[in-house]
Amino acid sequence: MTTRYRPFTHEGIAYGCDYNPEQWTPEVWDEDIALMREAGVDLVAINIFGWAHVQSGPGEFDFTLLDDVIARLHAAGIRVNLGTGTSSPPAWLTRAHPEVLPMAADGTRRFPGGRQAWCPSSPVFRSAALALVAATAERYGAHPAVALWHVSNELGCHNALCYCDVSAAAFRRWLRERYETLAALNGAWGTAFWSQTYHDWEEILPPRATISSRNPGQVLDFHRFSSDELLSYYRAEADVIRARSEVPVTTNFMVTAHIDSLDYWSWAGEMDVIANDHYLDHRLGDPTTELSFAADLTRGLAQGAPWLLMEHSVGAVNWQPLNKPKAPGEALRNSLTHVARGADGVCFFQWRASVQGSEKFHSAMLPHAGTDTAGWREVVELGGILDRIGEVAGSRVVAEAAVVFSWEAWWASQNESRPSSHLGYLDKVHAAYGALHALGITVDVVAPGAPLSDYRLVVVPGLHLVSPADAAVLTDWARDGGTLLVTFDSGIVDTADRVYTGGYTGPFREALGVAVEEFAPLAPGEPLTLSSGRTATLWSERGRATTAEVVDAFVDGPAAGSPALTRNAWGEGAAWYLATLPGAADFRDIARRVAADAGLIGRADDLPDSLDLVRRRRGATDYLFAINHGPDAVSVAARGDELVTGSTAGGTVTVPAGAVRIIREEATA
Ligand code: GAL
Repeated sequence: MTTRYRPFTHEGIAYGCDYNPEQWTPEVWDEDIALMREAGVDLVAINIFGWAHVQSGPGEFDFTLLDDVIARLHAAGIRVNLGTGTSSPPAWLTRAHPEVLPMAADGTRRFPGGRQAWCPSSPVFRSAALALVAATAERYGAHPAVALWHVSNELGCHNALCYCDVSAAAFRRWLRERYETLAALNGAWGTAFWSQTYHDWEEILPPRATISSRNPGQVLDFHRFSSDELLSYYRAEADVIRARSEVPVTTNFMVTAHIDSLDYWSWAGEMDVIANDHYLDHRLGDPTTELSFAADLTRGLAQGAPWLLMEHSVGAVNWQPLNKPKAPGEALRNSLTHVARGADGVCFFQWRASVQGSEKFHSAMLPHAGTDTAGWREVVELGGILDRIGEVAGSRVVAEAAVVFSWEAWWASQNESRPSSHLGYLDKVHAAYGALHALGITVDVVAPGAPLSDYRLVVVPGLHLVSPADAAVLTDWARDGGTLLVTFDSGIVDTADRVYTGGYTGPFREALGVAVEEFAPLAPGEPLTLSSGRTATLWSERGRATTAEVVDAFVDGPAAGSPALTRNAWGEGAAWYLATLPGAADFRDIARRVAADAGLIGRADDLPDSLDLVRRRRGATDYLFAINHGPDAVSVAARGDELVTGSTAGGTVTVPAGAVRIIREEATA
């Protein structure tokens, strides 16, 4: 992956929000700007959903409102993250061109009335959107307030997969480029199965709703196509902007639980700045740890460089079944966790809580209840802290372990007909990441095939789809002295979704020294005990060690007698294999053992798991972030200036319950 990185320049850590002034009157704007200054807000995203305000028909632009808002923000010294406004088409466009509306897999069109109602392949949509982008970039491309261009919004959040005829034709074009011949396509999709062989390109459709399960190769390629299609759309907007402006261009990614629409490894290199939106998902067992994972993955997309948290929430969202508020101090801890893990900017959705529209019950920096609130005080407190820690900006996170993550493996492993629908890709990834996180080991999250020389330990959770070349990068690295931990459901299929035969884990098999013969998944709640006394759930498998040492084995369940945890001495290094999903505490113990094999220790034993310790480094200076998620104060060894309170740590620092401390230290390595 190559990268552009024209980093957006900002003094210190940026603090900001989405701002939707079109929902309010100019008197309110004045109050907004005064309060933004009080809170220390210095970067606001505007015009994200601006299309209908700026354009009332073909060629009919009116920038009066935007001119006014930008001028006011500029006068107040607040920089602008300028939306191109194309995220949601206006009613005049969808009325004139209903063909731009997206089509669901069952062939029904989606109506306007929500947001992002457009087909990514529609040339009609694209040309209308690019006309708006051109007019906007022409007008503001050199405006001194504009710090960043914000293309569309969360591309692919709702409309990634469109099944209309225009998309079908674009899919066929994409397939012809990828495969060149029908024979190659038929081979890749295994169309010999169920009489699906194609004799003419025109016979090929997107994987629309079928009466039984769809062709998994076709589904996988449709994901790839859809990700590429939106990337080409992003590129088109970015090109129009770059022809008119020197200001860096980005869009907000959704590295977050559950949204798998885009392969961000293939997108990242085209962003000037990596920006992410993250929301705690209370449907997950441990949303706070998932936040750390998402932040580490976002840093991976930025190739270790600082990135921007474009959206998160002060309190509750409005789109989960139950929308929990944040506990006092939680928004602050969340924000500083992102900073600890590489963010050089913290922004919220949104500035002022809406009183109308779908998001009127979404939290905001300025809540419905106003400024005499705990929420507002925390927003102001956070602004003060971000000001005081400005020197952290530009430093880089220190990590000696990595976790491999792949959107392609996510797509392929969540196939409609799979061994168990009780386990998704993220369950496997989060479990492995959670075990390292509980030990206090900071990890980078990397793409398959990424260089690994910086690491002592690499964990490969459930990498269902992997190419032989990417697997070889991992096994070669281990043979040269690395410690590798591969977990079940890895190395199952190649990039054409074709099963590797000869024993599962395919290209990892020799390095791992195990041959897996048969999957033996379990129902939720079915007991699974290992010879060590550890317990596990949901997954077991029948197999045998070929050259590996069996460290733990299944004693009950359908795979009784088969290895559950193995270690293979592999060249100068070691390759571990975990064939089940242990409970969190047991997984942590296993991770501790494997990490020790790699010479990694993690957090000191007398510190609680609820203390997050992360280091950012610049030259000889370290910034040690100590984030205390627990109910008790914790004392941490540290020597240097503490930036949150402005005190000095002469050997230890006390981190009160729920608080964060950031100590400037001399780098230790
Ligand atoms: C994001 C989106 C914002 C807002 C927010 C609410 O997906 O970009 O516009 O809707 O979610 O959580």
